[in-house]
Amino acid sequence: MHPLRSLTVFCLLPLALMLDEDSPLDCVPRRSVPYHRDNARVFHEEGVFNYSTMLLREDLNVLLLGAREAVYALDLNDISKKLAAVKWEVTQQQEDECKNKGKDPETECKNYIRILHKMEDDRIYVCGTNAFDPECDYMSYTDGKLTLEKRAEDGKGKCPFDPFQRYASIMVDNDLYSATSMNFLGSEPILMRSSPVSIRTEFKSSWLHEPNFVSMAQMPEGDKSEEGDDDKVYLFFSETAVECDCYNKLVVSRVARVCKGDLGGQRTLQKKWTSFLKARMDCPVLESQLPYIIQDTYRWCDPEKHWKECVFYAVFTPQSDTSGLSAVCAYRVSDISKVFAEGKYKTPVTVETSFVKWVMYSGDVPVPRPGACIDNKAREAGITQTLDLPDRTLQFIKDRPLMDQSIHPIGQKPLLVRRGATFTRIIVNEVQAADGEKYHVMFIGTEEGTMLRAVNYNGEMFIIEEIQVFHPPGPIKILKFSDNMGHLYAGSDSGAAQIPLATCEKSSTCMDCVLARDPYCGWDTAVKKCVPLSKSQSEPIQSVKEGDASLCPPADPVKPSSLVIWPGSNQKLNCPSPSNLAKTSWEREGSTLEPSTRLQFLPDGLLIFNASVKDAGRYRCTSVERSKTEKYTYTVVEYQVSVNPARSGRGGLPLLPQAQTDGPSVTGLQVAVALLVITLLALLAWNFVKGHLPLPWNCGKNVSEPPQRGHGEEALNSASRPPPVEDKLLVSEVDYTPRNNNHTREEGASLQYIDDESEI
Ligand SMILES: *[C@@H]1O[C@H](CO)[C@@H](O)[C@H](O)[C@H]1NC(C)=O
Ligand SMILES: *[C@@H]1O[C@H](CO)[C@@H](O)[C@H](O)[C@H]1NC(C)=O
Repeated sequence: MHPLRSLTVFCLLPLALMLDEDSPLDCVPRRSVPYHRDNARVFHEEGVFNYSTMLLREDLNVLLLGAREAVYALDLNDISKKLAAVKWEVTQQQEDECKNKGKDPETECKNYIRILHKMEDDRIYVCGTNAFDPECDYMSYTDGKLTLEKRAEDGKGKCPFDPFQRYASIMVDNDLYSATSMNFLGSEPILMRSSPVSIRTEFKSSWLHEPNFVSMAQMPEGDKSEEGDDDKVYLFFSETAVECDCYNKLVVSRVARVCKGDLGGQRTLQKKWTSFLKARMDCPVLESQLPYIIQDTYRWCDPEKHWKECVFYAVFTPQSDTSGLSAVCAYRVSDISKVFAEGKYKTPVTVETSFVKWVMYSGDVPVPRPGACIDNKAREAGITQTLDLPDRTLQFIKDRPLMDQSIHPIGQKPLLVRRGATFTRIIVNEVQAADGEKYHVMFIGTEEGTMLRAVNYNGEMFIIEEIQVFHPPGPIKILKFSDNMGHLYAGSDSGAAQIPLATCEKSSTCMDCVLARDPYCGWDTAVKKCVPLSKSQSEPIQSVKEGDASLCPPADPVKPSSLVIWPGSNQKLNCPSPSNLAKTSWEREGSTLEPSTRLQFLPDGLLIFNASVKDAGRYRCTSVERSKTEKYTYTVVEYQVSVNPARSGRGGLPLLPQAQTDGPSVTGLQVAVALLVITLLALLAWNFVKGHLPLPWNCGKNVSEPPQRGHGEEALNSASRPPPVEDKLLVSEVDYTPRNNNHTREEGASLQYIDDESEI
């Protein structure tokens, strides 16, 4: 076993064991929505990239969007409307200096806007990387104009030098809290508060060790606190673990927090945090031995409830890329707070020569408790500010900022796990469903430019849909939500997008509307539409927990499309399934069809090869979808197929049938082209099915089949094939006959064949 593996197994075993798994690890979105212009309203400006910083100004009705060398003010109602813009470009001299220091002039030596925060006086604090020389400024938006004050404040410690490095920041009471790298090399990480006296972290690997900063949030823990506690600022990040005795680097996720009133120590920890405490955060995904890495968090609080009820939602991705799983875990703020307030500390001990091991500290803990905010107890003892803290307390925390206990997610396991999509950002919105309950809908941005909408219904993971927002696909780098507007805003390298919370109208039937289990949508029986709950006049049909579609009224009978085909021709009957969780099946004249050499079942339809008179009849495509309660079957489409024996397709090219559909029909040319393609594919498939050719993707079945399958049959088949394709097929057949006893030859054959085909 790999040394790292074995050690981490040792480190994390208790976690993996805690998981009992009933829900599948790979959660498939019920609906996949490919890219379409109508999926979102989009903003992007020619030649401008990296739209990754946003500030919502609901008071001004604008979205401030920071990109590379520019800031935009966009209409919150419709972000494709640009209201104002201001450029903030690096000078030629700055670019040259940056270049001389070995940075790339085209990418790194630009000004990437990284910080946009509202100040108490309504101005905006803005910082940019400024060609590896970070700078900050003040900006205002008045009379429809954006103006930079050009104050050129030093941005060191506030904004990263390197545009590719992650950072985090938050503005609390006009003080900027920032987590980034202090120096050009990016090797001196800090968490800093820029206030008249700025306070920062100690530069020590036990405080921050090669961190990747993710996000920050504040918690009003001083609010009506009985203990006279202080408000806190939380920081989420990942870093190389100091505490794991591993040979290799092991990265862990962390949450750290500081007290808002921290002024640093008098002698020890002068101008440094006296309240910096951190703990490991776990998001245990079964299958994985290495801890998952935190990528983003969202603080969700019910405005009517105590802060203890707040929850942090966080997205995680694997440390090693092999599994391709991403996860969402949720943490109670009260659980985190408790670990910091009452938990044990870890302490370094030197074993043998110079090897340091981190173990639980079990000695006496000084009073006041190291890392705690100044509270009533401390005040009673005459300690009214951190400057009064005794050296013993300060020295303790300076050496031991790490808690022994780690933070576990609610339910001890992820809320959602998805394979094949790399999660980047998360937003959570609460919605009251028709059943009166409130649900948390997770909006998750991915590396692939898609957005997932997911809900966890009593422990069951459910992804309502996955929408392609950006095209070409690129990572979603920021997500914001406006309560006032009810819109989401996403930013990527190529542009920004405004996305509605839900698009109920995508469901055209009651069955689909209810099975979608979307808490925003319900079926309005009066207008016979899937509508947003907020807009429905009557009591709409919805069943989010169960997906109980038996509540739906009987569906209107589907009007069949009529279709005339010719003997010997090939025909596809379309049946697009509305759901990835449904299976479609076909009936002819009421009896179920089985796939055969002449009937091929495709995910979105049925292919009939070499039609004959027997193929006439009424076809019905039904979709079968299982919800929590039962299996629902509904008709998607029906076709009345008649075969016109007057013209036979034999003796020449298979004729192109003239489809006559009642639905919105395609133009004749498109049909012809599509059918030509289908015909070619059909012939190809026919040959694969018949085993004339090995499948290029080896699915095992064909390999073990006996090699001889009646040459007579083959001859017969080829006789009716159109000449041009037939020639090619025959050539490849002749060339590669001994298929089954020679696998390499077989591969050669299929490759050769594919080449041939692509030339057609
Ligand atoms: C900025 O956008 C460009 C173009 O999409 C991309 O190649 C580059 O990696 C981005 N830079 C940063 C720092 O994200
Ligand atoms: C098509 O069907 C007819 C009978 O319906 C049969 O004679 C002919 O051989 C078939 N063609 C192919 C290519 O299978």
